[in-house]
Amino acid sequence: MNILHIDASASDSNASHTRRLSSELVAWLGTANPDATIVYRDLFANPLPHVDTTIRDAWTGEDSSDTKLAETMRRFKALVDELKAADVVVVGSPMFTVPSTLKARVDHVSIAGQIFGYTAEGPRDLLSGRVYLILSSGGIYSRGPFAAYDHLSTYLTAIFNFFGIQDVEVIQAEGIAYGPEQHHAAMTSAAKKFRRSPLD
Ligand SMILES: Cc1cc2nc3c(=O)[nH]c(=O)nc-3n(C[C@H](O)[C@H](O)[C@H](O)COP(=O)(O)O)c2cc1C
Repeated sequence: MNILHIDASASDSNASHTRRLSSELVAWLGTANPDATIVYRDLFANPLPHVDTTIRDAWTGEDSSDTKLAETMRRFKALVDELKAADVVVVGSPMFTVPSTLKARVDHVSIAGQIFGYTAEGPRDLLSGRVYLILSSGGIYSRGPFAAYDHLSTYLTAIFNFFGIQDVEVIQAEGIAYGPEQHHAAMTSAAKKFRRSPLD
């Protein structure tokens, strides 16, 4: 099993809710699958640039003698390959609407012919596997009056579905800013959710 673990929180592992939950989940997956290979990416510590002309050229480029383009192509291929190789993707992300670091990671690989393809009938997805979205927010968006404000779980679920991964489990620690009781309840119920989740 190949696990791709991605974190996008701006806080360090002592303070971040999503880093704590995503690392617990990956540890739990690793215990259940001792031969698993784990690739870890910290998008806050090592952010990708916004898509620019070099990156755009790298998507379609042939081997290049231009050093900058060749390096960008190598990096782009590595990003595509690690996503294609993953049987399980674990994404830890706070709600900053959608963190721009995470959006940039998606933008870098959302390329027709790589992660999905187009046919005469429309898009054809190319990935498979399972995704866990570990999300955290100050407010509550899974229900109630602010449900329409949740563009994070909806966006990430849609993009992974579009890539071909229909098995997307959303685990939310919500209402972190609503006081200590809700904070505790949110973290406890989020952790319980993935511990109940089937592994196969
Ligand atoms: C820059 C920034 C933007 C945020 N935007 C929102 C928001 O739009 N809605 C919300 O409910 N919480 C928002 N929050 C609160 C975080 O989502 C919340 O603290 C979350 O638990 C952070 O996850 P982390 O601890 O893993 O970093 C924001 C926090 C920061 C620092």
